[in-house]
Amino acid sequence: MSKYTLNINGKTQAVDVEPDTPLLWALRDTLGLVGSKYGCGLGQCGACTVHVDGVPARSCVLPVSSLGKQKITTIEGLDANARHPLQQAWQELDVPQCGYCQAGQIMTACHLLKQHPKPSDAQIDEAMAGNLCRCATYTRIRAGIHRAAE
Ligand code: FES
Repeated sequence: MSKYTLNINGKTQAVDVEPDTPLLWALRDTLGLVGSKYGCGLGQCGACTVHVDGVPARSCVLPVSSLGKQKITTIEGLDANARHPLQQAWQELDVPQCGYCQAGQIMTACHLLKQHPKPSDAQIDEAMAGNLCRCATYTRIRAGIHRAAE
């Protein structure tokens, strides 16, 4: 085990884990931030998406030892009161079905809106293509992004 100091949601957090421990497990098991989910563990589904220095990253394949002082944002840190426009839109439109993938969807959508404040359907589809939803809520996800962009 080794000690690492991570910058998570604006706070400095110490974790004592193996160097190759994926960030996802440090978040969930060590720090109790369980919003990010384990889907595939292979960087392919997007359920574990967080932001690293503002850019979406798959926390299931990101070793804690690789992070240094980079700023990590999880769904818990997106807005302290869960009042981010995307979270509001998700609630208003009942976007989730089972909900498992939705934190990752929102984190990716948040980055999209920073790049394209009024995204087209094509921009949404391109940005969100790597975030899989087993319930196929893609139409509602797209509507939620448009609502948040209003
Ligand atoms: Fe990380 Fe699927 S759990 S991409």
